[in-house]
Amino acid sequence: MGADGENLEYLFELFYADLDIDLKREVVSSIGRHKQNDKVFDFLSSEAFKNHYMEVIYQMFRTALYKSKNDDRFLALKDKMLQFYKNEFMQKMNDYYNFRQSKKLKLTKKTEILKPTLLCGDNRQTLKKIKDRQIKLIFTSPPYYNAKIYSDYKSYDAYLLAMKESLKECFRVLDDGRFIIINVSPVITKRAGREFESIRYPIHFDFHKILTESGFYFIDEIIWIKPEFSVPNRIGGYIQSKKPLSYKPNCITESILVYRKNAPFLLDKNINEYDKELKNDDTIDSTNCWYISPKSDKNHPAVFPEELCEKVLKYYSFKGDVVCDPFAGSGTFGKVAKKMERIPVLCEQNKTYIANLKKGGYIEI
Ligand SMILES: C[S@@+](CC[C@H](N)C(=O)[O-])C[C@H]1O[C@@H](n2cnc3c(N)ncnc32)[C@H](O)[C@@H]1O
Repeated sequence: MGADGENLEYLFELFYADLDIDLKREVVSSIGRHKQNDKVFDFLSSEAFKNHYMEVIYQMFRTALYKSKNDDRFLALKDKMLQFYKNEFMQKMNDYYNFRQSKKLKLTKKTEILKPTLLCGDNRQTLKKIKDRQIKLIFTSPPYYNAKIYSDYKSYDAYLLAMKESLKECFRVLDDGRFIIINVSPVITKRAGREFESIRYPIHFDFHKILTESGFYFIDEIIWIKPEFSVPNRIGGYIQSKKPLSYKPNCITESILVYRKNAPFLLDKNINEYDKELKNDDTIDSTNCWYISPKSDKNHPAVFPEELCEKVLKYYSFKGDVVCDPFAGSGTFGKVAKKMERIPVLCEQNKTYIANLKKGGYIEI
């Protein structure tokens, strides 16, 4: 559409016609491209706070954003829209626009971590030895509340608080726009007696909250599916009684939560920092269901299967990246990372596991 005044009047008329949402958004986009800022401003001021579909409002916001560079009236208008809507999508558009204008934010090209590294002690303290944004991927399986012998929290709230304190350090050491991937699943506490009900904790739901509060945003949930014979039997009671309400299915899945560190730029910027030739092989997992058998280990009660680490490293890091497991346990992730030519940074606080990790050729800092 042209940029003449007549055309603009026609677009205003079209906007008030009974259009479907996509067309209306297109009309707003065309209005936004006109150079007659007075008329465009009057239109936006009158329509941007009325009851339109949010997609149409986003288009109006986009116009206000782009015209704000040379016209303060639009700057005030876009701030007023941000205030009025308090909308996360508009906030993200605003952040991205500001980032593009300033071009100040640089990704961490040079790392000071050149060798596999071990941090011994509580990761809330030990991660402080790592400078900001040195890590390109975090993959971990934190303690599942009090499910295994190594964890001991006074309450579920205390557990979540401790996890959040660890995530704070994870956020700081992770580079902008990179992934943090957490393997968790619901756990149940043992009953204190037959008269008491046990509590089942949906840890993965609560991790969403603490991850987003820590500055990460949701990307995907990958479901790790195990063979049924490898998981505890919960269905036996129902099979015997066939009573409704007593149904407890065998749980053959765990969550692999994929989150990205907030960044005002698209993932392309992260990808483009690498050599163009650096690509994976042809084998892919095309769905979010990964079928992997669990692994048992005589030295640790909850180890990652190597295959799980391989997939995560393959899809979420490049060769040469510094990658971190802040709850390393037996160090499966570190072992696979080294094999796949990444540089692992492992944190562990348990003395027995540390003693084993030390045999793996890590530099202790
Ligand atoms: C679920 S296990 C991880 C197992 C690991 N994925 C593997 O393949 O062996 C969690 C580990 O985190 C350790 N841990 C718990 N809290 C920690 C903390 N605050 N700092 C460092 N390590 C911690 C525990 O000792 C335990 O070994």
